[in-house]
Amino acid sequence: MTTEDRSRKAHGAATAGMGRKGLYDHHSGAQNQAIQQQEARLRNAVDHLDLARPELRIMDYGCGPGRNSITVFHTILDALRRRDADMPVVAVHNDQIGNDWNELLANVGGPKGYLRDIKHIRVETSVGSFFDPVASPGTVDLGVSFAASHWLAGSVSLASPGSLFFCDLPEPARGEVAAIAARDWTDFLKQRASELKPGGWFVVDGLASVPDPDDPSGLRAAGRGLYRAFGQVADAMAADGRIDRDALETFIFPVYFRQSEEVRAPLEREQDLKDAFEIVELSNELLATPFEGNLGKDDDAEAYAAGYAGFARAFAESTLSAGLFAPSTSDAAAVKDLADDFFKRLQALIAADPKRYPFEHQVVTLVLRKR
Ligand SMILES: C[S@@+](CC[C@H](N)C(=O)[O-])C[C@H]1O[C@@H](n2cnc3c(N)ncnc32)[C@H](O)[C@@H]1O
Repeated sequence: MTTEDRSRKAHGAATAGMGRKGLYDHHSGAQNQAIQQQEARLRNAVDHLDLARPELRIMDYGCGPGRNSITVFHTILDALRRRDADMPVVAVHNDQIGNDWNELLANVGGPKGYLRDIKHIRVETSVGSFFDPVASPGTVDLGVSFAASHWLAGSVSLASPGSLFFCDLPEPARGEVAAIAARDWTDFLKQRASELKPGGWFVVDGLASVPDPDDPSGLRAAGRGLYRAFGQVADAMAADGRIDRDALETFIFPVYFRQSEEVRAPLEREQDLKDAFEIVELSNELLATPFEGNLGKDDDAEAYAAGYAGFARAFAESTLSAGLFAPSTSDAAAVKDLADDFFKRLQALIAADPKRYPFEHQVVTLVLRKR
């Protein structure tokens, strides 16, 4: 482990999980839509798997607390049962220790879960960071990972006055975050290269960026409108003395939305990855979000802003609380008040000028086959 790795681990995870109970399940329609877009790729991967006994191991990396991981497994298991009604399956859900595992398992076994109709299946959890080994070598037949690998391996604290979003950072912070993200992505792929069986498949997506010469950052990064709104709200709260200005000036939201060539780079540069994987597909799509359905309709700015702010809170609250709100108060109970204030202000900002903060749900998908 390098010195930098150690200091990043000491800073803590980039996200401790997707927020308070039930929030993510209610406000992750955008991620669910992205998963539904992956159906054909998941079915194609299953069609190519070697169904040699004794069992097939399928693993969802960064599964979150529930509903969306269930959608993933419904699709995969449906495709599998069309090929083989009796193949024993191990369904593995991976996420960090802070994930709401009770909610996940309630969803797995609940009325909409996949255990009801599918036989010859057992469920496992794998608790740990997917930048580390989270499965035994050579054991995974099909790996999937949705809306998770764009999180960095740890929180990052760098001088970044005026911005908290990777592509808006002043240099040298922008270059440093890009270098960290490149190392994280390489580590992520190397772990999967070790864990997948020969002939196994891996389908991974994440939020993405595409070049945009009209944007000051040079990119159309997914979520740029939202992260710029986060910056505005945080700045206003610092001006009001609610958030510590020093904490804000070094806080970076620990995500990195890769361009396609950044996704591909380690697979062409690193000999062990070149040897391990064949690239089946690398593609980039601009997807819709459910809350955008309200944008443009008369008088629905409030509904749009409420849906958008709910979506943002579900994935961002734990990260903002750890990196911005907790360092701004000595009273642990006040952290939740700061979060309430932040997301109330965010909703009002979006409602006042809805078109100014589009989400732009740009997603990059990579499909790999292990040689
Ligand atoms: C936006 S959620 C996506 C959840 C689900 N895959 C979906 O599509 O709805 C991102 C998930 O990635 C998990 N995650 C982030 N970094 C991780 C890491 N290093 N190891 C394992 N899980 C991680 C988070 O805890 C969170 O549950």
